[in-house]
Amino acid sequence: MARQPPRNRKPGLVVIGGTRARRALGAVWLVGAGPGDPDLLTFRAFNALRGADVVVHDGLVSEEILDLAPSRARRINVAKRKSRHTLPQDDINQLLVALALDGLNVVRLKGGDPFLFGRGGEEQAACREAGVECHVVPGVTAALAASANAGAPLTHRGSAQAVTFVTGHAAHGEPDLDWTALARPNQTVVVYMGVSTAGLIAERLMAAGRAGSTPALIVENASRADERRVLTTLSGLAEAAQGVKGPALLMVGEAMAMADVRSPPPLTGEGGREAAEGALAAERAPSVISPGGELTPPPLRRGGEFK
Ligand SMILES: C[S@@+](CC[C@H](N)C(=O)[O-])C[C@H]1O[C@@H](n2cnc3c(N)ncnc32)[C@H](O)[C@@H]1O
Repeated sequence: MARQPPRNRKPGLVVIGGTRARRALGAVWLVGAGPGDPDLLTFRAFNALRGADVVVHDGLVSEEILDLAPSRARRINVAKRKSRHTLPQDDINQLLVALALDGLNVVRLKGGDPFLFGRGGEEQAACREAGVECHVVPGVTAALAASANAGAPLTHRGSAQAVTFVTGHAAHGEPDLDWTALARPNQTVVVYMGVSTAGLIAERLMAAGRAGSTPALIVENASRADERRVLTTLSGLAEAAQGVKGPALLMVGEAMAMADVRSPPPLTGEGGREAAEGALAAERAPSVISPGGELTPPPLRRGGEFK
């Protein structure tokens, strides 16, 4: 069974003679917070947050989700915006390692999934190199929420036999993508971080043979109260991307024609958030659902190990 997030941190061990034993090593949890709506947080992410001593988060994580961490947990915002890097990636890696070496349970909370354009791999590598225990908790990536809310499947019999997630961001010049492969029909191409390069992406795809009439969907702020969708075509993508301010995805492919672009119905209600709040209010540790489906009591932490 996969390891479960910590629930109860034991106080530091005090040895006879009054000297405090060296603090046990902590651990780093790379946790996917999903696309924004707290209802899309997983139980495992919730449990990890509840066991956090410190939460290191980026700018895409909502306050509502951050508020699920215990009030004693310190919050560190390492938000990255395209032109304003609050903390370089190397410094984030070092920070995570230093906090864990100091004996803390560190939750590194990231928008969507940590391993999908989230640089989670680099943070994991830094932990491994430093001998720090590192666990990964998957999250709902933005494309899944965007597709679900719009009712536009990423794969669909007869019109999308494959889906490819790419980045539209390029440190220098243009994104290094296989335009010929992406231009083939009968597949969905989802572009993360592609708003500012929407014109170039459309141009390259059309030059490589994808029809200008291919449906294209832009979803801004997927799963949030201000979610906005624009259905256009590949040739209209650049124009439609103008005015997009929040995080957004460009989704190109025949199946995107199925998108419903009316305002989304309220996504939250008598759902997971209320259940989570109920669990907190009851002041009892929520049970953990194991991959096998059975309920198990929350794990106890001893000396940095999760039993
Ligand atoms: C650094 S990537 C992080 C992706 C994240 N790890 C994930 O799995 O969704 C940031 C990009 O993800 C996309 N994104 C993240 N949250 C989004 C949301 N709620 N709605 C639309 N796009 C989103 C945008 O393209 C944004 O520029």
